[in-house]
Amino acid sequence: MDKSAKIEFNGSSYTFPVITGSENEEAIDIKNLRSEMGLITYDPGYKNTGHCISSITYLDGENGILRYRGYSVEELCEKKSFLEVTYLLIFGDLPSQNQLEKFQNDIREETLVDEDLKQIFKSFPKSAHPMGVLSSLTSALIAFNPQNETKISMTDKEGVTADDKMYLSTVRLLAKFPIMSSWTLRKIKGLPLNYSNNNLSYTENIAYMMFAKPNQEYVQNDVIVNALNTLLILHADHEQNCSTSTVRIVGSSYAGLYASISAGISALWGRLHGGANQAVIEMLELIKNDNSDIDKYLNKAKDKSDPFRLMGFGHRVYKNFDPRAKIIKKAADQVLNDLGIDDPILDIAKSIEEKALTDEYFIEKKLYPNVDFYSGIIYRALGIPSDMFTVMFALGRIPGWIAQWKEMRDSNNPIGRPRQIYNGPTHRKISS
Ligand code: SDX
Repeated sequence: MDKSAKIEFNGSSYTFPVITGSENEEAIDIKNLRSEMGLITYDPGYKNTGHCISSITYLDGENGILRYRGYSVEELCEKKSFLEVTYLLIFGDLPSQNQLEKFQNDIREETLVDEDLKQIFKSFPKSAHPMGVLSSLTSALIAFNPQNETKISMTDKEGVTADDKMYLSTVRLLAKFPIMSSWTLRKIKGLPLNYSNNNLSYTENIAYMMFAKPNQEYVQNDVIVNALNTLLILHADHEQNCSTSTVRIVGSSYAGLYASISAGISALWGRLHGGANQAVIEMLELIKNDNSDIDKYLNKAKDKSDPFRLMGFGHRVYKNFDPRAKIIKKAADQVLNDLGIDDPILDIAKSIEEKALTDEYFIEKKLYPNVDFYSGIIYRALGIPSDMFTVMFALGRIPGWIAQWKEMRDSNNPIGRPRQIYNGPTHRKISS
């Protein structure tokens, strides 16, 4: 039975259709609200507003569920590689062995980075934040991948979303983004830049490019590779978060894939979003250096007059445990134990979680640890500097951004252009 919602206003009424998703989520379809009733909706931060219908990722915030194309992240982390999950998100199904091998080989074909792009990279000062560098380099990739530029053709089917061109742009970005990301780490550490080692798997290669030292034989550490595989899978997509919505709205103007993802990288950088994993470590260090006075900082987080927030806590969708935080917390224990690292800020993080989860303020506002609360502790144990933490987040999120951008373009969504309520000065003449 078709469901509907009736809105009555100013003596008129209109019945709007209600659409139901495959997990029984429901939304009022208000496409005709303005034309039928002269009204728009007002929803700062889009907290109650859906801007698309998607089949990529499903979140259940009340029950802490996260699935990519129907598979739970828990099962994917246990049984699949990040490259397989990348294929799943972009093409809709897990790859067969042949499909995976072709995908891996097509990516390996693209692992050379133009030396001119390397010159652009080298021109950045050592002090540049890697997220700013990567947003710039991803945009610069357009120049080395001209088919990714927006063609004037309105049909766009000759443009990037034509299957062959979209596939080439996809494998090129999947090949080059990890190389550029590893270069930002090497620059911070004053190490020579590594190129891709095509004899390694996708995630092994990321670890190799980041950690292989020029004067030592590179010995792979499976603890590091397995931790990276889990972290990259858990960051791979998260439906319509701030940066993914940015990628979609930029792409809706017919800007190219790389221009859209460059914008997404900038959106992810913010401390309220992907930049939170760096902010968490800075917060934990601050608490540690302040006699580990956890109560003082929990009180600051609860004080409305204090701008301090408990970074790594709270989420727009999860009003229960972020399932990723549970997996990452377990992985943090495992990695520090396997690497024989005793990091006091892990103990501080666990004490904060324990206190917050029994504190009325956090219970009432349903604030739980999110994906960023423990991830930085693992990156730190792997020897990755905190400026790089959001880069690691972006490395994981690339497949999700590609999948979401393609879905948006394939569904021929109109250009994203929200409305507003104006409350500035009414018409006035320039006084002589
Ligand atoms: C990510 O959207 C995604 O899916 C994002 C992400 C992904 O994978 O893409 O999951 C990744 O960005 C995770 C979130 C990382 N950010 C942080 O950890 C920063 C700290 N968290 C908050 O700033 C906040 O919780 C947000 C930004 C995550 C969510 O903010 P909302 O949904 O806009 O909620 P809000 O700011 O309106 O908070 C509701 C209430 C407020 O109190 P009241 O005004 O109602 O009295 O809860 C309070 C807030 O003050 N609150 C916090 C808090 N988070 C919310 N109080 C103290 N500490 C916090 N962390």
